[in-house]
Amino acid sequence: MARHLITSAIPYINGIKHLGNLVGSQLPADLFARFQRARGHEVLFLCATDEHGTPAELAAAKAGKPVAEYCAEMHAVQARIAEGFGLSFDHFGRSSSPQNHALTQHFAGVLADKGLIKEVSETQIYSKADGRFLPDRYIEGTCPNCGFEDARGDQCDNCTKQLDPTDLINPRSSVSGATDLEERATKHLYLKQSNMRGELQTWINSKTDWPVLTTSIANKWLNDGDGLQDRGITRDLDWGIPVKRGAEDWPGMEGKVFYVWFDAPIEYIACAQEWADAATGRDWARWWRTDKGASDVRYTQFMGKDNVPFHTLSFPATLLGSGEPWKLVDYIKSFNYLNYEGGQFSTSRGRGVFMDQALEILPADVWRWWLLSHAPESSDAEFTWENFQAAVNKDLSDVLGNFVSRVTKFCRSKFGETVPEAGTYGPDEEALIAELTTRIRAYEQHMDAMEVRKSAAELRAIWAAGNEYLQEAAPWSVFKQDPDRAAAQIRLALNLIRLYAVLSAPFIPTTAAKLFTAMNTLDTRWPEDVAEALASLEAGHGFSVPDNLFTKISDEEREDWAARFSGIRT
Ligand code: 2FM
Ligand code: ZN
Repeated sequence: MARHLITSAIPYINGIKHLGNLVGSQLPADLFARFQRARGHEVLFLCATDEHGTPAELAAAKAGKPVAEYCAEMHAVQARIAEGFGLSFDHFGRSSSPQNHALTQHFAGVLADKGLIKEVSETQIYSKADGRFLPDRYIEGTCPNCGFEDARGDQCDNCTKQLDPTDLINPRSSVSGATDLEERATKHLYLKQSNMRGELQTWINSKTDWPVLTTSIANKWLNDGDGLQDRGITRDLDWGIPVKRGAEDWPGMEGKVFYVWFDAPIEYIACAQEWADAATGRDWARWWRTDKGASDVRYTQFMGKDNVPFHTLSFPATLLGSGEPWKLVDYIKSFNYLNYEGGQFSTSRGRGVFMDQALEILPADVWRWWLLSHAPESSDAEFTWENFQAAVNKDLSDVLGNFVSRVTKFCRSKFGETVPEAGTYGPDEEALIAELTTRIRAYEQHMDAMEVRKSAAELRAIWAAGNEYLQEAAPWSVFKQDPDRAAAQIRLALNLIRLYAVLSAPFIPTTAAKLFTAMNTLDTRWPEDVAEALASLEAGHGFSVPDNLFTKISDEEREDWAARFSGIRT
């Protein structure tokens, strides 16, 4: 039995995530976690909310709530929606937890002891009206390069030029519109990542099996331009983890907090501590400390491509730099972007379908199936309502749903609601078993390799093989001359339904549970031997005909939804 530690990038607390966020980390991580559990491996699957930073503060202010209260509420909202999508986290933590406070301060302390932290004096823009320092992207003004009036302090969205806030003409606060901005001196801690360039390069080079998307991004940051830059890990904000050196105060750093991207990945570890603290008999160190058993763990991270630099460079720099025996990631599965109807999904602009809205209109499994079978792996992918309608109607209703419905209803009408006994298997059944064996072994390989689209295609082919068998066997015709033969065909087909439930559960867990209930079985064992797996439901075993598994999406619904989600969510 292997041990899998699996983390999904932790979603920002401010607002409900869209389907592009879901398919870029949480959903494929869940697919992998469910598969590894089904294979009998030990899994710890963790996710959390990413609660610090200016966006959280501003969202709380907009909601008129103290930020701690806002975060607690939004955590509950995100947890509920995650549950609705069947995301099977062992723990859904919070980066604002006491465990993460202590651990983040611990890392800062040991990194300082190792000489990897320096203090840097700099000037930053302060808004008197807002009573705060403004991060670069919260300063707007006219671009000196192209004249665009809404350029941000870090970049002009019109001409893409990288900017400093001081470059802007007529700068203003995007928080309040205030223009009384001034430069003020401040002091921050920097992580000396550049000292660790060699060690990080050696580590990245050793990851020869990583996806090109992951290693190319890491190498670009390691080698482009000035190479790995030292990175500010503190901010002048109220909300966040107070800057401390371990448990000690940090002279000169009073009133400052750690930068959200410093403490967010540390939450992966703190989340395991939260999980362990939530019940007795759980040991987080077994998963995270190589001196406490974690060298046996296979650690896989899931994330969108924009998160790769932080996970290939900054977080490993924190762990390696500490000199302590922390478990490093073994494999990073990263994703491109999912676009929405010819443009981008966008949280800030409210464009696309958001997780709560998706669940209001259709069951989670329909979304899970479409998103995973169209995961943006080798390139960006695109959601269109037309493709969505066509794909789910065909795969789920015409192929899987139709198979289950035909087999169970035919059996009920001719043999009753028990697995029929008569007849024996012949060459057609043996051919099907041989095909399924080949396909299931391929499916396992793709799932182990986290090839999400290939896995979905193989699962679809496994469903289709059953349909083709049924079509050719045609028990409804055979029954007239040779009812025993028809009985054997249906016995196999009923067993196939159970097998489909096992194989499909990582993709469509709710439907799989319905199939197990209908087949009246607790046998969820993975098919090591397909012939044996297809003998699980014995003659005389009772079952019931499930309610319609999937309702087809009509043209009218598709048009309605396309119109409803064409605008901007406010
Ligand atoms: O991009 C994001 O949504 C970030 N909140 C991801 C953080 S992942 C990690 F570092 F914890
Ligand atoms: Zn410009």
